[in-house]
Amino acid sequence: MCGIIGVTGAAEPLQVMLDALALLEYRGYDSAGVVLVDDDRLWRRRDAVRGHSLETLREAAADAPAHMTAGIGHTRWATHGAAVERNAHPHCDCSGTVAIVHNGIIENYQELWDKLAAEGHTRSSETDSEVVAHLLERELATGAGLAEALRRCVGELRGDFALAAVTTREPQVIAAARRTSPLILGRIDGTGLVASDIAALLGTTRDLYQLADDEIAEVRPDSISVVGLDGQQRGLVPLEVGWDLVAARRDGYDDFMSKEIHEQPRALADTLMGRLHVDGTTELEELRLTGSDLDEIERVVLMGCGSAYYACLSGRIAFEHWARMPAEVEIASEFRYRDAILGEHTLVVAVSQSGETVDTFHALREARRRGAKTIALTNVVDSLLAREADGALYTRAGPEIGVASTKCHATQIVMLQLLALHFARQRGAIEPEEGRDLAGGLLALPGLVGRAIARMDDYFSVANRLSEVQDVYFLGRRVGYAVALEGALKLKELAYVRAEAYPAGEMKHGPIALIDESAVVVAVATRGRLWEKVMANIAEVKARGATVVVVCGEGDEETKAVAEEFLEIPVVPELLSPAVAIVPLQALAYGVARARGNDVDRPRNLAKVVTVE
Ligand code: M6R
Repeated sequence: MCGIIGVTGAAEPLQVMLDALALLEYRGYDSAGVVLVDDDRLWRRRDAVRGHSLETLREAAADAPAHMTAGIGHTRWATHGAAVERNAHPHCDCSGTVAIVHNGIIENYQELWDKLAAEGHTRSSETDSEVVAHLLERELATGAGLAEALRRCVGELRGDFALAAVTTREPQVIAAARRTSPLILGRIDGTGLVASDIAALLGTTRDLYQLADDEIAEVRPDSISVVGLDGQQRGLVPLEVGWDLVAARRDGYDDFMSKEIHEQPRALADTLMGRLHVDGTTELEELRLTGSDLDEIERVVLMGCGSAYYACLSGRIAFEHWARMPAEVEIASEFRYRDAILGEHTLVVAVSQSGETVDTFHALREARRRGAKTIALTNVVDSLLAREADGALYTRAGPEIGVASTKCHATQIVMLQLLALHFARQRGAIEPEEGRDLAGGLLALPGLVGRAIARMDDYFSVANRLSEVQDVYFLGRRVGYAVALEGALKLKELAYVRAEAYPAGEMKHGPIALIDESAVVVAVATRGRLWEKVMANIAEVKARGATVVVVCGEGDEETKAVAEEFLEIPVVPELLSPAVAIVPLQALAYGVARARGNDVDRPRNLAKVVTVE
């Protein structure tokens, strides 16, 4: 997680960094810090007031020295060491002439510290990151330049990292390196730039470059050079980007989450555009799988973390039901450590909004190692995941800044359904007429989601009445269970309410012991194959005193009659319902969180992009 910015050659490097850090804050907001450098000294300011550190840095900017040549900045999501100022980046060496910022985890930091301590280095933080500043100090003492010193250090590091460093000895240079964690390079008019994220640089330049694993960059105001771990020169690889900054701003909404909920119809329409036609035909050239490749696939494994994993649960049902293919779902963080049995006839689809989630990245890499064909289903073009996979499918949702996934979760579900339809047609598992009906259903989703969004005020009224809830149980069956899981996650992460999701039929096998008059049960009770059974499960919890909230179809009086509260959505075929049924649950979590005064875009303890294991 953590955001990194570096700038050299700009007239006002501090201003460039502060603007970029504001755009990077969604990666982590436990603390923020900057360092400016010239040939004489480092000027460092850090602050660790969660979510407010950038304001402090802006105030400190008034005292910043003029004419500093370069700087590096950081916004932190704490891993090693509490979220306090001494652990905030940038970190310095013993002499106070070297500073570094870091994203990721240095796995062997303790071992490295033990050696450095024996050589007389002392540390001033509990972080794993600080070790790099001292390793650089040691290498610079041999007479090496900064980039060469960093190259030698990288050879000693284990783990995933993106690093940027400055020193008073070469005040115009930023040295940068990465392994797995992302880092990009840029330049414009005599200014060199380094950042962890495209969003940080889009407002400044489109002249952007990739840095590959174990490459080390020397960024100067008018030049960028890159070497490999072996010291051999590497070419600069341009980075293509499609997003613009306007799309990453709030557009008058109170927060990004609200904006992103409202963007769902557009995001879904863009995801389907040009890929699905009313006659049921599909065009997914990006898959880079030929017809015979598709024929050879015997099994599909869908994987992701958090909301992406729940999207996979809905996707699995579509693969089984429409394409008649064996489909499994894996939590990416667990998959890598199983002895999964895969082969060339297995297709692994790794789902990730950011395309940077390290658990999903390593799971995909493991799947490739075991011989599977792989697809990255992601929202970020050219992301780590997209580059690692055999093919990439992009969800085209546009930038998602709010930490809670909304429009990206919805587009992941629909993209997986489209992929399932693609396989179904290719393999002749459905009749053309059924394909046409499904295409019609998928193409109607943006409009139906828009109709659900139009009911937002009704959903917020329910949220306000439930704002004091303590324990909430979300129930559903089939795709309704996937929706229940996602609804519970939203309530946990935004409102900090204990919320658990169960397949409704499982309640009687244990969890129902938790139900009494204080419990609130949210049941996904839209009409479908198991509606009657869900109604019976609702009766069971009502009999134990629970307050029941149902998600149901518009005008479904029979379902509404069993509940204290209802969240109506437009009527939609069961298997296509998740992208619509999740809207009121997004609103419920949003409304309860706002009523409790929580920051919905930056919930506590979380970060948008999870680049640590
Ligand atoms: O970027 P990814 O889709 O890989 O992120 C996966 C999860 O970290 C993410 O979905 C997380 O669960 C969200 N905060 C949920 O709202």
